[in-house]
Amino acid sequence: MLELKHISYSVREGDGELGILNDISLTIDDHKLVVFTGPNGGGKTTLAKVIMGLVTPTSGQILWNGRDITELGITERARLGISYGFQQPPRFKGLTVRDLLTLASGDQKLSKDKCCQYLTKVGLCANDYLDREVDVSLSGGEVKRIEIASILARNAELMIFDEPEAGIDLWSFARLTETFEQIHATAKATMIIISHQERIISLADEVIVVGDGAIRHRGTASEILPQILADTLGTCPVLTHKEVKAQ
Ligand SMILES: Nc1ncnc2c1ncn2[C@@H]1O[C@H](COP(=O)(O)OP(=O)(O)OP(=O)(O)O)[C@@H](O)[C@H]1O
Ligand SMILES: [Mg+2]
Repeated sequence: MLELKHISYSVREGDGELGILNDISLTIDDHKLVVFTGPNGGGKTTLAKVIMGLVTPTSGQILWNGRDITELGITERARLGISYGFQQPPRFKGLTVRDLLTLASGDQKLSKDKCCQYLTKVGLCANDYLDREVDVSLSGGEVKRIEIASILARNAELMIFDEPEAGIDLWSFARLTETFEQIHATAKATMIIISHQERIISLADEVIVVGDGAIRHRGTASEILPQILADTLGTCPVLTHKEVKAQ
């Protein structure tokens, strides 16, 4: 179980402080699939990085399986079974896709078949990619999918995916949502997926809308999706204007 207690994060801005996350508390039970969604700049990635240990909160506490991990670094959290896939994954010159999957799995003798299974889940063919370097020669969508495959290979207890849909074609996206559904159905891991995609939101046990650094709404997909659509219309002056004109 993951528990966030009164998490705040602020950065210095000029003479003052800029609040990025403001007093966020939430609990995520084991094997749940939770989607964080909400407007750009709302604080979703920062919250994910706080959970992974990439950002240290200004105040608050994080508990993982009852243990206080607030002071632990990324490596220790990874050892405790937490993994995070970047919104914009880094590239590693000199490291092949096979190396990355081998490192992630912790199995020095990871077979080609196993690599192929992970890559197939994100719509890639092992024959084409295993010996490629994870460098700038890969397209944005390819590097994103390879990183997701490496999280699957890590087989962590808590998997955090930051906008897995970004830059991914429709066919691969369909494979990916199937993979999320399978992991969820077999209760193999707890998943936090940051997403703006209705298809992913509809898979969630719980949807948490993060805006202005706070939890704006939370509920089931069927409760939250209509609210999101209503908010979208309400805040776009062009759409609202068109609606008025159409009446
Ligand atoms: N170190 C920092 N210094 C200043 N501002 C920051 C810092 N880190 C994050 N922010 C700001 O905090 C806000 C939240 O950023 P974050 O990346 O968490 O948003 P997000 O919800 O993931 O957005 P998106 O949907 O665009 O990915 C943004 O306005 C961002 O510019
Ligand atoms: Mg983000």
